[in-house]
Amino acid sequence: MPRAVLVLAALLVPALARGANPVPAHRAQGDLALAARDVLQRRCAACHTGSADPGKSKLALLDHARLTAKGRPVPAPELLLDLVKDGSMPPGNRAAPTAREVTALGAWVKAGAPEFPAAFDDAYVLRHVAADIERELPRNKLRYAGEYLRYASFAHLIRDGEPLPDVGALEAELNAAVSFATSRPEKLVAVDPVGLVFRIDLTRLNWRGSDLFARMSGAKTEGTYTGPASPFDLVLLEYPFAVRRVPGAATAPPLARFLSADNQVRPVPYVRGEWLTAALVQGKELTPLAQDLKSLAALTTALGRAAPPPAGHDARPLAGARPVVSAVPPLAALYASDVTPNPAPFALSVELVANGKPVAKVVEDAPYKLLATADRAVRFVLLKVLADGELRVQQVEGGDALRAKEPRELSPGGDGFATGPETLGFLLLACTDELPAPLVLRSRHADKHVWRFLLESSAKYPFDPGAVVRKWVPVLAGK
Ligand code: HEC
Repeated sequence: MPRAVLVLAALLVPALARGANPVPAHRAQGDLALAARDVLQRRCAACHTGSADPGKSKLALLDHARLTAKGRPVPAPELLLDLVKDGSMPPGNRAAPTAREVTALGAWVKAGAPEFPAAFDDAYVLRHVAADIERELPRNKLRYAGEYLRYASFAHLIRDGEPLPDVGALEAELNAAVSFATSRPEKLVAVDPVGLVFRIDLTRLNWRGSDLFARMSGAKTEGTYTGPASPFDLVLLEYPFAVRRVPGAATAPPLARFLSADNQVRPVPYVRGEWLTAALVQGKELTPLAQDLKSLAALTTALGRAAPPPAGHDARPLAGARPVVSAVPPLAALYASDVTPNPAPFALSVELVANGKPVAKVVEDAPYKLLATADRAVRFVLLKVLADGELRVQQVEGGDALRAKEPRELSPGGDGFATGPETLGFLLLACTDELPAPLVLRSRHADKHVWRFLLESSAKYPFDPGAVVRKWVPVLAGK
């Protein structure tokens, strides 16, 4: 086999890649820490809470800093191993650790008791994201804190009382997906001691491009869009697991600057690693989203060299995309269909009707309308999605309001929407408040564009994404 093919095969087959390479240091240390913490959490933590109450111990075994603090006659990690081995801990009739668990504790102590956190929560990830940005700041001249830095994390997969995931395999899959999507062998750098949080360096991956899109008004361009719309911003637009954050400790500088609207399209400090893998690669194929990134990376390169822009890739229909229920709904996702906040602020339904009757498919030469119903008074915006990926804000007769529980037929005028192969479907976004007009963006490719829309919150329309419900209405042609 030629060398290039071998390299590609290794990228595509994570297990092979892992087998061929020695376990990296962060993974070796991280796995020891994970395994030891898991034993301590299940067998010891109920009593070792750090409290002085009877039956409890002041030695909080999940508090790594205290556990490894200097000054004890016998360091706590060695002591706990001795007490477990001689059978005095756990005391009484509590289930003793298995031989395997004792081995895990022993290996961890022997390696110098590598660090673990008391909990693998959002705060853990944010702490290490913030620390990494601080470390990188002095090394680079940046406009914004963390301008080219993004992160992926597996910390949410570590749940107390549940089996530990194979983080090494997940990491290898993520590296393989990023390598495939960028056509360069990539190993993301771990930024936390357990090896769960990985830096995505947008500059290295050519996912940092700016000024890649033009603002659209109908079919006309209205100049370059200068807001955040890097290739990786497209990933953030799709992300369904964003967390609602209250201003405070979790968003202290430099995180606040990192998450600001000048720097990224949605305030998402990190994405789940296995979600990113699946968002880029499905089976042996790049996903449509990864193809968007690839064509935008090629555009970035061309614009950087002042070369004529290349053509993009063939647009891929949104039809079939899955519905999303989310705490912070990805309203402008293109590879999701219905998007509903959790909890849903109201019920919304939309269907196709022809001659006042619901239809599953539209028929040639028979105009159709959309029948929309909400269980309370809402305002809406409607977007038309065309087969080549083009997006258009669709005006309808009679304004942008739905009355509570009063079905309303939406039509551009005349008999309704004309049938034709070019319309893929409609996105209806509704909110109890007024919504901003969607900003439609088209990539500056010579042909075959990447299209996106944004709903920008402004002083005039300060809407809450958690109050917006989005419905996808595919327009299927039939007989
Ligand atoms: C049923 C409650 C309980 C469980 C379960 C338990 N311990 Fe303890 N442990 C205690 C108490 C009580 C003490 C003594 C009081 C103190 O240290 O504050 C103690 C003391 C210790 C000490 C000595 C503390 C010191 O500061 O010198 C170590 C080390 C220890 N335990 C390790 C473990 C380990 C490891 C496990 C799990 C395999 C475990 N214990 C499970 C209750 C428990």
